[in-house]
Amino acid sequence: TTPDTLQKPVVLVGMMGAGKTAIGTALAKLLDVELIDSDEALVSAANMSIAEIFARDGEAFFRKRESEVLDRLLSGAPCILSTGGGAWLSPVNRQMIQDRGTAVWLKADLALLWSRVRHKTTRPLLQTDDPYGTLKEIFEARQDIYALADLVVEAQASYSIQQMADAVLNC
Ligand code: S3P
Repeated sequence: TTPDTLQKPVVLVGMMGAGKTAIGTALAKLLDVELIDSDEALVSAANMSIAEIFARDGEAFFRKRESEVLDRLLSGAPCILSTGGGAWLSPVNRQMIQDRGTAVWLKADLALLWSRVRHKTTRPLLQTDDPYGTLKEIFEARQDIYALADLVVEAQASYSIQQMADAVLNC
C-alpha cells in the first residue's frame, strides 16, 4: 500500500512501451508529487536525445550516465520515478533503487508492448532489420530480472492509464 504522503520514491520499471511514463504521470497527479522520468533527466543533462547518445557514445556510456542520473534522482524528494526500460538491469542500479525506493514492475505482454512501440522511432535498441524480433529477444531476456521488483502490476490493453495508476496505488 502506498501511503498518502510518499515516504520514498516509487520507481516504475519495465519494458519499453509498458506505460511507465504515462502511468507515472497519472500516479504523480494522484499523489500530488512530481513525476521524474530518468530518460528525460538524462537527455536534458546531456543536451542530446537518447538516440544521439547511443549513436555518438554507445550504449555502455548511456548506461553509465543512466546510473548517475538514477543516483541523483533517488536522492531528491520522494517522487514517482519512471525509468528507462534498461535501468533496472544493472545490479548496482537495482540495489540503489531498492535501498532507497520501491520498485514497481509494470508487466505487459509482448503483443501489447509491440503495439505501442512499433510506430515509434525514438528507441535506438529497436532500430534493427527486425524490430519485432529484437523486442521479443529483449523481452525474453529481461522477464526474470524485472520479476525481482518489489511489486508487480499487470498492464492490459483494455486498462486505462487511470486504472493502471489506481492499481499501482493499491498494490
Ligand atoms: C531502453 C529503454 C528506453 C531508453 C533507451 C533504452 C531499454 O526507455 O532508456 O532507449 O534498454 O529498454 P523507455 O523504456 O522509456 O522506452
